[in-house]
Order: sequence, then C-alpha cells, then structure tokens
Amino acid sequence: MLLRLLWLTPVLCFAAWAQHDTKDGEKAKHPFIGDLAAIEAGRQQFSTGCAGCHGPEGGGGRGPNLQDRGVWHPLGDEDMYKLIQKGQGLMPGANVTVDEGWRLVAFVRSLTTPAFEMKAPGDAVAGKAVYEANGCANCHTLQGKGGKLGPDLSNVGLRLPLPKMRKAVMDPDDAIAEGYQGIDLVMRSGERVRGVVKNRTNYSVQVQLGNGSLRLLNVGDVETMTLREATMMPVDYVKKLSKMEMDNLVAFLARQAAGAPVMAAKQ
Ligand code: HEC
Ligand code: HEC
Repeated sequence: MLLRLLWLTPVLCFAAWAQHDTKDGEKAKHPFIGDLAAIEAGRQQFSTGCAGCHGPEGGGGRGPNLQDRGVWHPLGDEDMYKLIQKGQGLMPGANVTVDEGWRLVAFVRSLTTPAFEMKAPGDAVAGKAVYEANGCANCHTLQGKGGKLGPDLSNVGLRLPLPKMRKAVMDPDDAIAEGYQGIDLVMRSGERVRGVVKNRTNYSVQVQLGNGSLRLLNVGDVETMTLREATMMPVDYVKKLSKMEMDNLVAFLARQAAGAPVMAAKQ
C-alpha cells in the first residue's frame, strides 16, 4: 500500500539512477526495450503466461512484485532474458521464442523505467489542457506554480514509471504519497481544520492547509483529530476523464522532468 513511498526516497531514486547508468554502460539494450508496440505485445504474453504468479500488471502474487523489485534488485536485460527462458527457483522457464522472450523483457522493464524515458501512449500537448481543465494545479505545483496540498509534480516524470503514474491519477487511494496523509480536526473553539499532516508530536500538530500555508496547532486546543485513511486527491478522475484524456494527461505528466540531466528522450 505504501509502496509508492519508495519512489519518493532520494536514496532509492539515486539507486535507480545508478542502475540506469550501468544499464546504459552495458549498451546491451535490445531494440524491443522501450518500444511501445513490443511492450504491448509483451503485456499480452505476460497476461497469459506470467500474470498468474506476478499479478496482471506485475504487482506481485505468488511471484515477486516486478514493479518494485527492479529498484532493489537490478537485473540486466540479458540476465532477465535468460531468467525468463530458463526459470529460477520456483519460477518455471517460459516456453517462448527469442522475440517473445525479449518482448517480455521489454514489458517487465517498462514497469520500472521512469515515465520520462518511455513513449507514453498519448499526446502530451493535449494532456496539458486536460491538466489545466481539471483543477490539478489547485493542489499541485509545476515549475513553481500551483497549489501545495499535493506533491510537487515538476519532476514526476523521473520519479514514477508509467503504470504507477497512471495508477496515481486513476486510483489515488491505492498508495498515498508519504507526507500527504489527510487529517480532519475539530478545535475546542468549534473551528474545523482540514489538511495534510506535516509533523506531529505529543504536543503539537502541523497541518498544511489547502492554500499551501502551514498551521501549527496545540494539541491542547484540539477537541478531535481524525486521520483520514483516504487520500485528499479526488478519486473520481477515472470516471470524469475518457481513456484518451487519461492517456494524454499521463503523457503530459511523463514529460515533467525539471532539472533532469540532459538525456535522450524517445519522444
Ligand atoms: C509459477 C509462478 C511463476 C510464473 C508462472 C512466472 N514466475 Fe517469474 N518468478 C516467480 C518466482 C517465485 C520468482 C522468484 C525466483 C527466485 O526465487 O529467484 C520469479 C522471478 C521473476 C523475475 C526476476 C525477479 C528478480 O529480479 O530476481 C522476473 C523478471 C520474472 N519472474 C518474470 C516472469 C515472466 C516474464 C514470466 C512469464 C513468462 C514469469 N516470471 C512467470 C514465479 C513465477
Ligand atoms: C484536492 C487536491 C488535489 C487535486 C485537485 C489533485 N490532486 Fe493529485 N494529489 C493530491 C494529494 C494530496 C496527493 C498525495 C496523496 C496521494 O498520493 O494520494 C496527490 C498525488 C498525486 C500524484 C502522485 C504523486 C507522487 O509523487 O506520488 C499524482 C501523479 C497526481 N496527484 C496527479 C494529479 C493530477 C494529474 C490531477 C488532476 C487531474 C490531480 N492530481 C488533482 C491532491 C490533489
């Protein structure tokens, strides 16, 4: 549930970068890797031969979670290909052709590659309009502009892989970003305060309000305090946006990589 936290931890982000460097250093990249059509074909194959153990989107089951595993257990492309063909431990070898094997590698890679490095299936320019029309900026900052209730998205293309990014918009309750748990307070004065907990001690609680300002409250002045299980992010975008709007929005978010070192983007 809190697995998306991993993507927020600078140390792990650095690990992901380091891994990226070694991968590039190997230069063993198969042409299918990062290729949208190959990834899609790999996804189909994965759903019949692998999802039974690894979950439909590689989220884990009897087999490990392949969305998170890559972060702490980097596996080179060749090694992954061999592992898929031969099996390992409780995992049986797959009976697939060379191309099918590489499409599977391409799909598994796509689960952990930062969205910025992928070709997102959508139109980033159209996605900007979706972002602007749906109030995202009320809560999120991009390039220094916007609200502060939710995480700054200026760098989100480097922080989240495409499946996690899509999930963050379609099903925000699934994994609440660290430091963004909602809280409802009723003060002894009768005032109601709602926001995101930033800091909490036995004596005080610091709450970030919807307008981004921080407020430090004395626990002694608080009548009731309810931590919200649910996210503060609207959960109905999945109903409000068409599939195409969602694709475009994700494509736009994928391009958000402020401060990224100069690198070849594939789009
Ligand atoms: C019967 C269940 C099962 C099936 C089916 C299965 N896996 Fe696995 N998979 C596992 C288990 C268990 C592991 C952990 C292996 C170990 O002990 O090292 C694993 C490990 C992996 C790993 C390596 C993770 C790592 O970093 O070490 C990859 C990649 C992987 N599987 C991909 C696939 C793909 C692709 C398919 C479909 C062709 C597939 N698996 C089918 C159970 C399964
Ligand atoms: C009412 C405020 C609010 C609005 C409006 C809102 N969000 Fe969020 N969003 C949040 C909060 C709070 C979080 C952190 C909690 C969570 O992970 O669910 C979040 C999390 C996210 C994340 C995950 C970020 C990360 O670092 O893990 C993404 C991506 C995101 N929002 C995109 C959007 C997009 C795109 C829109 C518009 C379609 C939008 N949000 C609208 C409040 C909002």
